[in-house]
Amino acid sequence: MSVRADLQGRHIVLGLTGGIACYKSAELVRLLTQAGATVQVVMTEGAQAFVTPLTFQALSGRPVYTSQWDNRPDNNMAHIQLSREADAILVAPATADFLARLVQGRADDLLSLTCLARPRGQCALLVAPAMNREMWSHPATQRNVRQLCEDGTAVLGPAAGDQACGEVGDGRMLEPAELLEALIAHFQPKCLSGRRVLVTAGPTFEPIDPVRGITNLSSGKMGFAIARAAREAGAQVTLVAGPVHLPTPQGVRRLDVQTARQMCDTVVPLAGEHDVFIATAAVADWRPASLSEHKIKKEGKKVAPTFELTENPDILATVAALRSPPYCVGFAAESESLLEHARAKLTRKRVPLIVGNLGPATFGKDDNALLLVDAHTHRALPADGRHADKLSLARELMQELARRLNQEPKA
Ligand code: C5P
Repeated sequence: MSVRADLQGRHIVLGLTGGIACYKSAELVRLLTQAGATVQVVMTEGAQAFVTPLTFQALSGRPVYTSQWDNRPDNNMAHIQLSREADAILVAPATADFLARLVQGRADDLLSLTCLARPRGQCALLVAPAMNREMWSHPATQRNVRQLCEDGTAVLGPAAGDQACGEVGDGRMLEPAELLEALIAHFQPKCLSGRRVLVTAGPTFEPIDPVRGITNLSSGKMGFAIARAAREAGAQVTLVAGPVHLPTPQGVRRLDVQTARQMCDTVVPLAGEHDVFIATAAVADWRPASLSEHKIKKEGKKVAPTFELTENPDILATVAALRSPPYCVGFAAESESLLEHARAKLTRKRVPLIVGNLGPATFGKDDNALLLVDAHTHRALPADGRHADKLSLARELMQELARRLNQEPKA
């Protein structure tokens, strides 16, 4: 996949404290710089016991800061200069001790000093805890984490799994790619904060027999990009996914289904708990009327088998017809006459917004071109009608949705 410049123009202070996960932060520096950020690494004494400043200087292209007495800055105040230049400070890994020191507002080494001195309105603090599971679950650490959240610090993770000490449990630092995703999300406008968004994505699979079925070419990429963009915009997101092999966007609740009926049975009871329903899934319109218990065999058959099909429930129309439906957005994957078909769908499904796209041109691809159609207007995304990557389009769609929701009287 192509590298996106989501952090272009951002300056990040990456703080390392003394944990074995420091070796993963080398990869994190690469990912941050590939995403367009400039990275200034600051290491505590403990971090230097695990990895050397040399590695991080080479990867970031900048000398690493390790001491509050560093006299390189003109004003001789490294903590002030570092925190004034930064758009965010990310401490990864953050040890239990470092979290405790942040909570107490300690300032006896360069990194804690820089965190304390940062202008909170313009430079966020994000920490990625990494420690043994007993240390993580200790009431003292949990108390510190609650306090940090209350103080406005974003706590990323930790994950559960194998630990360097040989134990298994909560306390692993998030992977570098996950930290990158979290940092990118941090910089997105929170236009859907407080909203709950339900998304369907991918194809459905309608079984014929235990090994065959009817499906389509939808990759789920657009729906997954929408779920990610909605989460980045601050919404609580539930993603109901057909059979696809895509990673779940961070912070998104995912429910996997196979058939249209399963998707419908999952979505409809959840719809009332959500403010928005975005039906991105390419749901099979028909399914085999009966399911063969065993594989249909070729041997001994002179004529090919035929199947009777029966109609699947229309999930979007069902949700839109609920007594107090969420704001419903449908997708129209067409091969021609996009505007005409999208308008027809708007009326047929009784939804306020349909997003049209040309199916054959976008199925499985990382980019797309959208046409937003409501009862009165239509508008192309991107505006020039050309293709853009699906995540950028999804972010623009979230902004459009936020505008529309803000115009609606609140339920
Ligand atoms: O009915 P049609 O496939 O033309 O409409 C597409 C829109 O309706 C998409 O938003 C799709 O997710 C939704 N849909 C649905 N349930 C179906 C068929 C389509 O929710 N059975």
